[in-house]
Amino acid sequence: MSEQARKTAEGLVYLTGFGNEHSSEAVPGALPLGRNSPQRAPLGLYAEQLSGSAFTEPRAHNRRSWLYRIRPSAAHPPFTRIDNGGLRTAPFTETVPDPNRLRWNPLPDPAPGTDFLSGLWTLGGNGDAAQRAGMAIHLYAANASMTDRVFSDSDGELLIVPERGGLLLRTELGLLRAEPGHVALIPRGVRFRVELLDADARGYVCENYGQPFQLPDLGPIGANGLAAARDFQAPVAAYEDIERPTEVVNKFCGNLWSATYGHSPLDVVAWHGTHTPYVYDLRRFNVLGTISYDHPDPSIFTVLTSPSDTPGLAGVDFVVFAPRWLVGEDTFRPPYFHRNVMSEYMGLIEGAYDAKAEGFVPGGGSLHNMMSAHGPDRETFDKASAAELKPQKIDDGLAFMFETRWPITATAQAAGADHLQRRYDDVWQGLQRHFRA
Ligand SMILES: [Fe+2]
Repeated sequence: MSEQARKTAEGLVYLTGFGNEHSSEAVPGALPLGRNSPQRAPLGLYAEQLSGSAFTEPRAHNRRSWLYRIRPSAAHPPFTRIDNGGLRTAPFTETVPDPNRLRWNPLPDPAPGTDFLSGLWTLGGNGDAAQRAGMAIHLYAANASMTDRVFSDSDGELLIVPERGGLLLRTELGLLRAEPGHVALIPRGVRFRVELLDADARGYVCENYGQPFQLPDLGPIGANGLAAARDFQAPVAAYEDIERPTEVVNKFCGNLWSATYGHSPLDVVAWHGTHTPYVYDLRRFNVLGTISYDHPDPSIFTVLTSPSDTPGLAGVDFVVFAPRWLVGEDTFRPPYFHRNVMSEYMGLIEGAYDAKAEGFVPGGGSLHNMMSAHGPDRETFDKASAAELKPQKIDDGLAFMFETRWPITATAQAAGADHLQRRYDDVWQGLQRHFRA
């Protein structure tokens, strides 16, 4: 299975550009020209609009795609509730919000036969999915491909951050390959199936209930820098013509609902629009930083942002700590000690992170909630305070952060997990007094 998926993944071609009005047809002539909904769509297809924003939102924020498919999505029997598994949804009320710094080891290995959907495990989040505000942090661990079922999330878009094992994402709009070091963005409501490219897969997911992720404004940085729009890859149309029962699992206001179609709903032969999935290689991120002194705030590493109604205040930012040179003179170069009104969840895709000497491992994660005091551990502080400040390349790690405007409340399963590190606070023990009056 994974061999066949890998062969498919390696041959993929993409459209490029974030937020573009893309169009694609898997069969020549399938895409109507000059109108969206002709009396009879080409090739006997059904026309269907998928709206990711209100019809009337400003053009710059409007997201919608027109899909030309073998059968309309409406042709389904009633959805019925199924078990939510490890998925939880805001509002998060299972535990009280915890001001303590928390850190987890990677998820334990899943039971045999666990696919991406059944392997999703919610760590926590904030806001309210039904209000379309806030976010959730999930992890996944899987050892099987999804077969004869697809998933769609009505509650938000999914930013998938693979840490181990490649993924083939078969979406309604086409196929994407997401390897560790890539991120994939699945828009709200788009159906998709996850096939594994390796024996197992593990990673992180930010479920964004709020405004869709967009590229951050660049201000004085200028017209270029950070993540380039052209490096975001959207799929080309690819359809399944499969007349076999397929389960569609829909996450709706926190619960999973299931309906079985008599055919594959990944049957879109052509499409055009702006509501599209993407994959992005984090190694293409153009890292900017100081060339004089002091460490810029980590917002300089923002890949994507979900804005709120308040300018500059994100519902959630996705931030990457990619390989970079440190050249600051008379500067404490690792991330500084700080307390932040925003709440920070950090994960590690590979290698090590320059503010934590140990204990923060790929597949694990740390949560530094609103105003919690954090920063380098003692070992890192001692080393960085004494380091010779010659130009230094940080090239052995890829860490990221989901940073959000509201405190993050852990789920009961995360607060009580065996893989929660019980003595995380110890990393800040023994920071010596150096004060001399
Ligand atoms: Fe921080």
